[in-house]
Amino acid sequence: MKIGIDRITFATTDRYLDLRELAAARGVDPNKYLIGIGQSEQAVIPPTQDAVTLAAQAAAKLPAADLARVTTLIVATESGVDNSKASAIYVKQLLGLSDFVRTIELKEACYSATAGLQFARGQVALNPSEKVLVIASDIARYGLGTGGEVTQGGGAVAMLVSANPRVLEIGNHSVALSKDLMDFWRPLGHSEALVDGKYSTQVYIDFFQQCWQQFRLQTGASLADFSALLFHLPFTKMGKKALASELGERDDADAQRLWAALAASQVYGRRVGNLYTGSLYLGLLSYLNHGAAAAGDQLGLFSYGSGAEGEFFTGRLVAGFADYVDHPDAALDQRQAVSVAEYERLFNAQLGMDSADVAFDLDADPAPFVLAGRKDQKRQYQRNNH
Ligand code: HMG
Repeated sequence: MKIGIDRITFATTDRYLDLRELAAARGVDPNKYLIGIGQSEQAVIPPTQDAVTLAAQAAAKLPAADLARVTTLIVATESGVDNSKASAIYVKQLLGLSDFVRTIELKEACYSATAGLQFARGQVALNPSEKVLVIASDIARYGLGTGGEVTQGGGAVAMLVSANPRVLEIGNHSVALSKDLMDFWRPLGHSEALVDGKYSTQVYIDFFQQCWQQFRLQTGASLADFSALLFHLPFTKMGKKALASELGERDDADAQRLWAALAASQVYGRRVGNLYTGSLYLGLLSYLNHGAAAAGDQLGLFSYGSGAEGEFFTGRLVAGFADYVDHPDAALDQRQAVSVAEYERLFNAQLGMDSADVAFDLDADPAPFVLAGRKDQKRQYQRNNH
């Protein structure tokens, strides 16, 4: 049975920071951010948005008829809003899904949406009528003035997984690798991640190479079998480093095709920043909309989550896939630019780890779903009324 992604949608916030302005404010050469890191803009997150509302925003872009058929909802996130309750339950409520839906949250840094897709495939294999909604939703926060600040971002990617998918048939063979490492983590009680930045980039490349070489060994695959290699993109330069670790100085037809595909996969990430769990899948969407993607093509996907876990897996594009993928270019163009001072104000206004009651000003956020505040230690989510 063919199982995979039947539809894919993406949502982020309505405002962004131009990283040339951040560079000026931090006293850094803008080319370090634009070329050295490979990021030009960053999603700015108002306090009325979090992993739950962003997940609902992305999923609400799916046709109502598809949402009505969802049997399991998986939210993959490392920006969870509760130590016990799954974000998926809030998301299910905001979306108005049936109560007879299985809801769960998954965590392993940026990797967990891939686990979500694999679990969804298992669910559909057991019962082909199942429609599993996997949402990868996160806000990447390192802190003002930190080394990781330029790689912040946020947003969500929603993927409907079904039998006979209309976008991407996911291959049965994959290689997963996990090791206990401290490259990036967020201790309990912290709202910002801690990171050993340079080490994290080395571990990422090592995991890519180990997963890919093992996959080649087990399947006999070669680069010629893939029209694109897609990577988790915490910042776009990371994809370049990973692909270069395989291609080196090669300039043959395979290398040229894979470099062009990588460039197409980086278009959205460059404008939004790190989505953590959603970054690989935003790269997939970006490639589908901006690359030379064609029905029948095989894609290689490398998922990485710090801590650390990696997986190399494959997908084959289905004829007519373009009709079932989101086209977020116009929404990205329409976002409002904010100043560094406004970005810093909004960064500091995010709901922290304390327990005080808060009521946010909802007039400033036109998104369909908002976090209205916190009352009696309970988050208050609602559909936006304007
Ligand atoms: P840094 O110290 O700010 O930057 O850290 P740098 O000094 O290493 O410079 C970065 C690049 O800019 C270098 O190029 C410089 O040469 C270049 P590279 O050697 O890397 O090719 N550069 C310039 N280029 C052009 N013009 C200039 C210029 N100046 C310098 N004027 C770092 C960078 C990425 C480490 C930092 O931003 C960071 O810690 N980020 C967060 C961690 C991260 O994203 N790690 C990625 C791998 S781990 C991962 O992907 C998992 C993750 O998503 C979390 C999860 O799983 O949940 C993070």
